[in-house]
Amino acid sequence: MLSDRIRFTTCYRALSGEDVRAEILDGLLRPPRSIPSKYFYDGAGSRLFEKITTLTEYYLTSTEKAIMQDVFPSIAEDIGSIDIIELGSGDCSKITILLDCIPNDLMAGIRYIPVDISRSAVMKSSTTLLERYPDLQIHGLIADFQNDIQSIPDGAGRIVCFFGSTIGNLERNEAKRFMNRIKSIMMPGDRLLLGLDMVKNTQVLERAYNDDSGHTAEFNRNILKVVNRLLRSDFEPSRFDHSAYFNSEENRIEMHLVASENTTVNSPFISEPLILEKGESIRTENSYKYTMDDIAALSSISGLQISNVFADEREWFSLVEFSAE
Ligand code: AVJ
Repeated sequence: MLSDRIRFTTCYRALSGEDVRAEILDGLLRPPRSIPSKYFYDGAGSRLFEKITTLTEYYLTSTEKAIMQDVFPSIAEDIGSIDIIELGSGDCSKITILLDCIPNDLMAGIRYIPVDISRSAVMKSSTTLLERYPDLQIHGLIADFQNDIQSIPDGAGRIVCFFGSTIGNLERNEAKRFMNRIKSIMMPGDRLLLGLDMVKNTQVLERAYNDDSGHTAEFNRNILKVVNRLLRSDFEPSRFDHSAYFNSEENRIEMHLVASENTTVNSPFISEPLILEKGESIRTENSYKYTMDDIAALSSISGLQISNVFADEREWFSLVEFSAE
């Protein structure tokens, strides 16, 4: 029976409409203007992101998955009865690469714990995995990987996974705080698998965020539709140009929406219309890239040891294995 092998816990309290509006207006009204990148991912935004991960220019996903195909067989070799926790789990294509490497007779000892704020994403991936692996146990957590880490159940020899360079959306100090929080729930013998996009040739980086088919531009503009729904505002997405470039001082890709003409935006939640002059930009994302020194800094700040750095031949992406002593 499916229901014997699966349970869900909800920890995440969604922000109130009022809090969401305050957060978005705070970024929009004072320069340098910005919109938090978490608002990219409504239904349409999530589908566009999925599409981006299949584009040749967007090397991140294919490179990370190739590394996984390479190293997961050896990671799965000495796996016992453990929990596999995936933060920001989204779809299940990456964890499937790991689970496929685990012999059938060991599967009954494995509990998979997807952690995501999207209930529908956790439900959907759990259902798929239950069918694919008839002995797997699943405990879905509807939770925020930044704030609800304490709600992850205790266990021994756990593997915590945080794939996809999602940590790249965190500011440098937030990333360090995140590592400290992970460390605080890790027991001796637990490990963390962290996917990081590396600093590399600027052209390669910039092409990944300026694909020929224009999907990233569409993904970027879609955030204005999300904001329109939340603020009942009237942003006209077609009046904004997609801009993405590498900031070599901060080692990050920045995505912006640049007004292509003078624009006025109205919302019942602001007393005066928002006026954007031609050329004015709204930053929608920072995507931080890492060096080996940065990885060493994550280790020393958190006290988690680096046990392996798995990378592709070009060293474009790293899957770093940290362990708790
Ligand atoms: C989901 C944060 C890893 O930064 O590469 C893709 C999001 N933005 N194209 C990234 C994204 C534009 C992506 N992350």
